[in-house]
Amino acid sequence: MRTPFLLVNFKAYEEALGPKAVALAKTCATVEEDTGRSLAVAPSAFDLALVAKSVRLPVFAQHLDPAETGKSTGWLPPEAALAAGAVGTIVNHSERKVAWEEIRDLVKRCHVLGLEVVVCADDPGEAGTAAKLGPDYIAIEPPELIGGDVSVTTAKPEVITRSVDRIRTANPAVKVLCGAGVKTGKDVAKALELGTVGVLLASGVVKAKNPEKALRDLAKGLTREA
Ligand code: G3P
Repeated sequence: MRTPFLLVNFKAYEEALGPKAVALAKTCATVEEDTGRSLAVAPSAFDLALVAKSVRLPVFAQHLDPAETGKSTGWLPPEAALAAGAVGTIVNHSERKVAWEEIRDLVKRCHVLGLEVVVCADDPGEAGTAAKLGPDYIAIEPPELIGGDVSVTTAKPEVITRSVDRIRTANPAVKVLCGAGVKTGKDVAKALELGTVGVLLASGVVKAKNPEKALRDLAKGLTREA
C-alpha cells in the first residue's frame, strides 16, 4: 500500500452489500482519484471479486483462514482471495478473533503469495504479540470504541502511542494503523501524528449520510508521508 492510507472496512453493513458494495467502492475510487490520497477497501467475501473487477483500488479481504486449497469446504484460503483480486487481508478483527497460531500460519501463507496482512489488536499487549508474527500492518482498535462517535485518537491516544512503542520494540518493520470511532480528517491527521501510517475505519464512511463527503474530509487528514 502507498502510505499513509485509509482502509475502509465494509463489515456486513447492509449499506455496503451486493450492488451497494460496488457503488461504495466506486465512491472511494472517485475520492482517491480526485484527491491523490491513498485508499483501500475491504468488502464482504461475497462481494470481493466483483468489487476488485469494478474499481482500480486495492481490495482487502476482511478475514482469511490458513486453510489449504482443495478439500476445505466453507473455509477462506488465501489463494481464493488472490484469485478474486485481493491484494491483502485483515485478520483477528475484534469482531472475528482467531488464535495466534492461525495468524502466524496465515501471515506466512499470505506472504508466499504476495498478499499483505493487517492484523488487528485490541490493546498494546496484543499489538506486541502480533508484531512478532511479522505482518505488514497492525491495526490498533479498542473494541469498546468501535462503531461509536468518539475517535480512538481523542478517547485513548495513549493506547496508540503505547502500541506504536511495543510494535517498534518487537518488530520495527511492522507499520501501524489505528481505528475505532474515526469520523473526520482531523481524527486521521491526529492518528498520523501519533505514529500511525493510516486508519482502518467503517461506520464513519459506510453509515455516513453522505459517504463521499465524509471520505473527502477523511482524506484531507492524510497529509503527511509516513
Ligand atoms: O475495522 C474498522 C473498525 O472496527 C472501526 O469501526 O465503525 O469505529 O470505524 P468504526
